[in-house]
Amino acid sequence: MNIVSRTKEKQIRLKREDFMENPYPLYESLRGISPIYKGSMLKQPGWFVTGYKEAALILKEPSFFTRIPLPRSTEKYGHLKRAQSKMMLYMNNHDHRKLRLLVNKGFTPKQVEEFKPLIEKITHSLLDELIVKKEFDVVSEFAFPLTSLVIATILGVPEEDRKRFRVWASALLQSIDFSRSHKTLEESDRLIGELNDYFTLVIDKKRKKPCNDLISKLIKEEDKITNEELIATSILLVIAGHETTVNLISNTVLAFAKHPAQWELLKSDSSLVAPSIEEVLRYESPTQLTARVAMKDTEIAGHQLTSGDQIYLMLGAANRDPEVFEKPNEFIISRKSIPHLSFGMGAHFCLGSTLARLEAQAALAALLQRLNTYELVSNQIKWRKLMGFRSLEQLRIKTFNTSK
Ligand code: HEM
Repeated sequence: MNIVSRTKEKQIRLKREDFMENPYPLYESLRGISPIYKGSMLKQPGWFVTGYKEAALILKEPSFFTRIPLPRSTEKYGHLKRAQSKMMLYMNNHDHRKLRLLVNKGFTPKQVEEFKPLIEKITHSLLDELIVKKEFDVVSEFAFPLTSLVIATILGVPEEDRKRFRVWASALLQSIDFSRSHKTLEESDRLIGELNDYFTLVIDKKRKKPCNDLISKLIKEEDKITNEELIATSILLVIAGHETTVNLISNTVLAFAKHPAQWELLKSDSSLVAPSIEEVLRYESPTQLTARVAMKDTEIAGHQLTSGDQIYLMLGAANRDPEVFEKPNEFIISRKSIPHLSFGMGAHFCLGSTLARLEAQAALAALLQRLNTYELVSNQIKWRKLMGFRSLEQLRIKTFNTSK
């Protein structure tokens, strides 16, 4: 299927598969026409924003806080619709602030720092087993067990359930992707029903026997959070707190495999671990797209937007805007400043950014210390067929000169 974007000046045709493999040429073509471009993609009309300045303006502007809800034709997906309506990602103003303030207590820098020893321990014990194998899949054998164990611990759900988290998170990511089909929505609706039942049981158990985890803490705030909001928040955290961080870690390993000189530079200066993660967030952002709907007529960067217009913010494109980043298509870990938009901006700025950064930095530091040298098993890189996320199917690497 072709992705077709049309303006008065130009028509851009691109095979959907080619876009999934490498979206950056399309972003550049769109930005070349206009950083905020009116057209349509996959039959969706709207404004496609590829400019950094324009994307940041829209993310910060209250008349654009509302995310695009599920289309009317999906009214029948009751579980999905109900859960989304109780997720902070889809809420605005007072309701949003109230829920965000409450859940944020579990994700403050001080709170997240407490997880550092656990994250480092999991990272090293995973590598203890993997380096003996000499060849492994970074996605399923390293990034996924690390992030799912961390989010399962934060929420306070049993460790043995984490394999189900992977299935849930992976399938549900597709339900919020631009490329979603009725089949994926149907499947996601069924899974949300399952998750709903699962968290209802978990919450019931914790009500009777509270522990020191986030769900137990939120139960104590019963007067500020409803049971439905608590279930929806737990579901949101499983999806948001998991899949994107798996992608950040895997994209980091891929970026360094493809840029050996940058890996050597990192080996010579480990203070570049944190800036490297920022550069991966910019260069291969796990979240490529987020969407909004205009709540009133508004002018943005000289364009008149009308109430009801749909806006697609291409974060992965904004992160490569040459107006802001020198040599935007190059992976350079020693950049002086990396103000990427990968965690969004404004009222909905990613709640888990501190945790995601900590996990990815710990993973990279451990890989640096233990792997020394690695290479890809194959240069055939397989990206999942998603438009809003940069997500590898798998990433097999071979390791050399590893350290115990
Ligand atoms: C590399 C990893 C991650 C990336 C790239 C990422 C990206 C994002 C982005 C772009 C948004 C804003 C969406 C919008 O404005 O439309 C967002 C929101 C959010 N993220 Fe993340 N995220 C990551 C990891 C996490 C983690 C680890 C958690 C929690 C454990 C988390 C929880 C959330 C939540 C709850 C929101 C909604 C905030 C709100 O609506 O106020 N994310 N994330």
